[in-house]
Amino acid sequence: MALRLNASYAKGFISDDELKQLAPAVQQAHDALHNGTCAGNDFIGWLTLPTDYPAGNMSFEKGTANPEFNRIKAAAKKIQSDSDILIVIGIGGSYLGARAAIEYLTTPNYNLIKKDTPNIYYAGNSISGAALSELPELCEGKDVSLNMISKSGTTTEPAVAFRVLRKMLEDKYGKEEACKRIYCTTDANKGTLHDVAIKEGYETFVVPDDVGGRYSVLTAVGLLPIAVAGCDIDKLLEGAQAAQADFAKTADIEENVCYKYAAMRNVLYNKGYATEIMVSYEPAYQMMSEWWKQLYGESEGKDNKGLFPASVIFSTDLHSMGQYIQEGVRNLFETVCVFDKPKTDLEIGIDPENIDGLNFLAGENMDYVNKNAFGGTVLAHNDGGVPNIVLEIPDWSEYELGYLIYFFEKACAVSGIMLGVNPFNQPGVEAYKKNMFALLGKPGYEKEQAALAERLGDNFKKLINK
Ligand code: PA5
Repeated sequence: MALRLNASYAKGFISDDELKQLAPAVQQAHDALHNGTCAGNDFIGWLTLPTDYPAGNMSFEKGTANPEFNRIKAAAKKIQSDSDILIVIGIGGSYLGARAAIEYLTTPNYNLIKKDTPNIYYAGNSISGAALSELPELCEGKDVSLNMISKSGTTTEPAVAFRVLRKMLEDKYGKEEACKRIYCTTDANKGTLHDVAIKEGYETFVVPDDVGGRYSVLTAVGLLPIAVAGCDIDKLLEGAQAAQADFAKTADIEENVCYKYAAMRNVLYNKGYATEIMVSYEPAYQMMSEWWKQLYGESEGKDNKGLFPASVIFSTDLHSMGQYIQEGVRNLFETVCVFDKPKTDLEIGIDPENIDGLNFLAGENMDYVNKNAFGGTVLAHNDGGVPNIVLEIPDWSEYELGYLIYFFEKACAVSGIMLGVNPFNQPGVEAYKKNMFALLGKPGYEKEQAALAERLGDNFKKLINK
């Protein structure tokens, strides 16, 4: 059984007619994507990646069974056998997918549980000295490997972390042994990281040219760390392959749930619902929501358009954000992921004295209580004027996760095309970088430095102590 879309909790908010009217736009988006005529068409390698990647049909290794796919598995085995810790260095699309999949498939407490796979730490996903300086301490007395991931090979955050952690490894093992513990995932032919890796002799993996960072989780970017965590990457790709086949068959939204999701959010957006909140009732889903937020925010938020993607975990956030969702500004809708089968479950025991008054739950499983929390919440939020799109996912397996990843990727592309934006670029990300580089005095940006410092004023000078 595959992922299902339950539209019944959006019924009072979206009419059948409104959805039907979108059919031609959905068909056009489907055609533009599959014919390769959409904006950003040089970044649609992800569309057939689930089948092309393991078969070796990507641009970088056309026509051979993909030796890189087998190298990923071999490197993961080596890291599992010679390391207590893998540090994944990357930011945005170069780490979120891996982390999301690992926490979804194992647990957010992955590093704390008993297991025979390495702990996985993340670095280069901020410019926090506090976060980076914790790592050498965590690595003391442990065997460590690094997976440095950057498609461009020039992103500042991971580049700085790599400089620090590479030195840590070289000090620990010497240059030769450190070299055998450093894995670089980057462009096949160019970029600073590519050049460093070739010069130093690090093993490299490729981010295909036609796959953008936020669409790259099913390449080495995600697959290597996911495999190190002991998850089955064949099954993950199998699920994505099934989704690839299912969502290519027809553009009819009654038969294509991926397009139905895209169409429903499009209708809601056009009716003034400006924020989409991703909801799950499982903490293990939290990083998936982070991955989803990047995918949708970076793909659609441009040209002064796009839904703002937010996320909550219930019932946790019913005690913080629940009030706002129930009664705040009425421009929100929710997309809720519910699972037929729980990850694991626990029965609530009986207390003969019933001093806490909870015996009405005795003998019930936590999943039963959690699902009733969902039932109560979806109705309350509907009553409060919040449309809900519910995605029903069979289980927490690698297969279903692969299916879900592809579902979100394709819905995002179709949705962006319907919105009239290029879903595969991110021109807005450059604005802060230019300013930051100028303020830091990076060669080539000197001209803007003084003007920006002036705009920031004296308080900024105090803040940076200069
Ligand atoms: O989706 C994207 O393209 C971005 O989020 C990138 O993944 C992110 O900026 C990191 O870029 P890079 O992999 O080039 O270091």
